[in-house]
Amino acid sequence: MLENVKFGVIPCAGKGTRFLPITKSVSKEMLNIIDRPTIDYIVDELIDSGIKDIVFVVSPSKTDIKKYYSKDESLINELKESHKEEYIKEIEKLTSKANFYYVTQKEALGLGHAVLMAKEIVHDNNFVVCCGDDITLYDKCNPPIKSLIEAFNLTHSTIVGGQKVEHSLINKYGSMDIEKNIDETLFKLKGIVEKPSLDKAPSDYASLGKWVFKPNIFNELEHTKKGLGNEIQLTDAIESLIKKEDVYFKIFNGKRYDCGDKLGFLKAIIDISLTRDDLKDGFLKYIKSIIK
Ligand code: UTP
Repeated sequence: MLENVKFGVIPCAGKGTRFLPITKSVSKEMLNIIDRPTIDYIVDELIDSGIKDIVFVVSPSKTDIKKYYSKDESLINELKESHKEEYIKEIEKLTSKANFYYVTQKEALGLGHAVLMAKEIVHDNNFVVCCGDDITLYDKCNPPIKSLIEAFNLTHSTIVGGQKVEHSLINKYGSMDIEKNIDETLFKLKGIVEKPSLDKAPSDYASLGKWVFKPNIFNELEHTKKGLGNEIQLTDAIESLIKKEDVYFKIFNGKRYDCGDKLGFLKAIIDISLTRDDLKDGFLKYIKSIIK
């Protein structure tokens, strides 16, 4: 039963500093992995997980995301006239695959603040949050977000999604302080330590950009003060929720890429190219030739 969780929220209003100068004019979430923007892989994972209502949190200057998911009759007519029908289907599918909503985060005050902006659409519904620069390659039968929603329906509690990372990398993420194991992939949380030093990390289980929330997170966010980096941190709001009620960590399947980081983005391009029937043979041949 997935109908408990109605909306998917994708915060896309960050500054994208690590990708300057391209992010002067293009949103980081619109950087392309071959012929689709990063964000479209996240949209498809939400759709594969049963979510049909998708909210983008955008900054005032980011109009490219809305343009991408809007109808473009003149482009369709042009393609019809030039007999390039094969592209029309793709483009029509893009605009009709979900219901898209847009809310503006006027200033980049942090991920927690971006999530709070979605309240005007989400209201009192349960919802998923996916970072706009984190993508996962997964088995179509088992989308990561779907497994998080299943954990939500089992526990009726907030779910933090993530995976175990190499110990040397845990200082880049929120590290889970675990109270008890429910099963091999589901853990009840005692706390989360954001970007801990390696000797202070409670575990190597890391929060990796996917959550399922009840609407009560908005109340926590409204009372969350600026934290790390002078930003309103989503983790701080979750920490305060953990003090009041059960919150769980769920390990999701699949290979996850941090596309907000240049090397992570390159890895995603390479791995996704190798899954594409139209590209993999030629691309593999090329890679082998340069490795020689
Ligand atoms: P990041 O911290 O990776 O994004 O946020 P950033 O701030 O754009 O990164 P750099 O360090 O400047 O390169 C994770 C996600 O949260 C969104 C981002 O767009 C990204 O998808 N975000 C972050 C917001 O929507 N608003 C914010 O104020 C901060």
